[in-house]
Amino acid sequence: MEILGIDIGGSGIKGAIVNTNTGELMSKKHRIATPQPATPENIAKTIKEMVDHFNWSGKVGCGFPTPLAHGKCLSGSNLHPSLKNVQIDDLFHKITGLNFNVINDADAAALAEINFGAGKNKQGLIAVITLGTGIGSGLFYNGQLIPNSELGHLTYKSEPFENYAADSIRKKEELSYKKWGKRLNKYFNHLELLFSPDLIIIGGGASKKLHKFEDQIKINAPIIPAENKNEAGIIGAAMAAN
Ligand code: BGC
Repeated sequence: MEILGIDIGGSGIKGAIVNTNTGELMSKKHRIATPQPATPENIAKTIKEMVDHFNWSGKVGCGFPTPLAHGKCLSGSNLHPSLKNVQIDDLFHKITGLNFNVINDADAAALAEINFGAGKNKQGLIAVITLGTGIGSGLFYNGQLIPNSELGHLTYKSEPFENYAADSIRKKEELSYKKWGKRLNKYFNHLELLFSPDLIIIGGGASKKLHKFEDQIKINAPIIPAENKNEAGIIGAAMAAN
């Protein structure tokens, strides 16, 4: 089935038509900058623009960078505080007239990797960790998603780890890959202490850069890049809407 997949991130909103049986993109990817401030209304307008770009009238699957329960944002995370408690699937439906299935962005990326990427046919506990504006996580156990795991919010010095080790922090503080890798090493050691995953898959924009910092990460679990690279979020969002 073909579904429009949209991945909403802190800096960009990306969409493409996805074949949910094969995980392939059936169109070119389209990117629109995330509006600032990223209020519910501004994001909804951008979603309408995306739907219009594809002249789309079918189902839409959307990955959203906050924890969600049944289409409702449980917090505003890095986007905007006013998103808390907004029924985001209804808002997108109102502005486009289309049916939306909205899930957490990292859960979406993990879904794509487990079905069509680096986690395919792998059993046990797999943590897909996305490194971008924030740190997102998608946890799978024997092929079953445990939603809304929010492991970027494990704490370091009383702050969420994502405020210390996200890719956006590397850029903002102009950290070398070595320095950033050392920060990530602290993060992955903490994660391993708590969850002992069998495999860690790196997703998000930084999946392409794993080779630049992997020598700093000293943990027991193997750590590998996502195969769908930056497209996992789009593919997984579409799959979840199937
Ligand atoms: C949010 C998560 C999201 C992650 C990556 C965090 O700030 O709380 O829900 O998955 O950023 O976008």
